[in-house]
Amino acid sequence: MTASGTPGPVVVVTGASRGLGAGLAEALAGSGMRLGLLARNEPPVPTGAEDRCVPMAGDVTDPGVLDRLVTGVVGTFGRIDWWVNNAGLLEPVGPLADADPEAVSRLVAVNVTGVLLGSRAFARHVRDRPGAGVVVNISSGAATTPYEGWAPYCASKAAVDQATEVLALEGARFGLRAHTLSPGVVDTAMQALIRDQPAERFPAVDRFIDLRARGAFNSPAWVGAYLIELCEGRTDPGRVHHRVPDEPRR
Ligand SMILES: NC(=O)c1ccc[n+]([C@@H]2O[C@H](COP(=O)([O-])OP(=O)(O)OC[C@H]3O[C@@H](n4cnc5c(N)ncnc54)[C@H](OP(=O)(O)O)[C@@H]3O)[C@@H](O)[C@H]2O)c1
Repeated sequence: MTASGTPGPVVVVTGASRGLGAGLAEALAGSGMRLGLLARNEPPVPTGAEDRCVPMAGDVTDPGVLDRLVTGVVGTFGRIDWWVNNAGLLEPVGPLADADPEAVSRLVAVNVTGVLLGSRAFARHVRDRPGAGVVVNISSGAATTPYEGWAPYCASKAAVDQATEVLALEGARFGLRAHTLSPGVVDTAMQALIRDQPAERFPAVDRFIDLRARGAFNSPAWVGAYLIELCEGRTDPGRVHHRVPDEPRR
């Protein structure tokens, strides 16, 4: 229930088994939302949300998994209001000339195809039921800033940005709003992986080590609060691309 006592919006979050996705699920649950959660490892149910969460194990690159997620969540709650495509990979890291072709394809499959298929599944649901919907695709500063060693990752996030622009145009006629959300730097397993890279493979590594030393992260709760404002239409809903501001240091 929300603070007003009404059932909260129904929100799907992909990549919710750990990191930012799990943190977003906690923040959404804390605000009374009902949840559908997906990752290859079944996501944990946020504390206190035992009776309003549908967790599911599956891969975002499999359209059948996404269809089953929609069916399962709609079967439980009647509809889906917001959908967050958060699942993502960073590797392979290093010069593109040295990259393993299979790892490149896998990253594109998860970061681009997974977002396209998740957006597709949600767009079909919104188109076929009354009322509006909001899709939020988690992007990154890497969509617009080139980082040596991150060619596949940067390319994937630029693709997410452009796909979301198209979806925003297409969805307008049936009440679907589409946004990207760059979360800032969040201290997750992906950040630990970034800090572990040798400078020869990832020359900007010192910037991320320094962020850790200063504790200059955005917490998932901070990102979640921004996400909720965005989905509720309180933060410039006419703009497609959003970046979570830096969290004031505690
Ligand atoms: N952390 C940051 O500073 C930062 C900054 C900018 C953008 N981002 C973006 O934020 C998102 C989350 O990143 P994170 O830092 O939380 O990463 P993370 O800690 O590595 O978590 C990634 C999540 O994605 C899931 N996942 C990976 N492949 C999947 C697949 N094929 N199907 C379903 N789920 C899959 C993982 O779960 P399973 O392994 O169980 O599948 C996990 O729950 C990513 O899109 C990332 O690019 C992060």
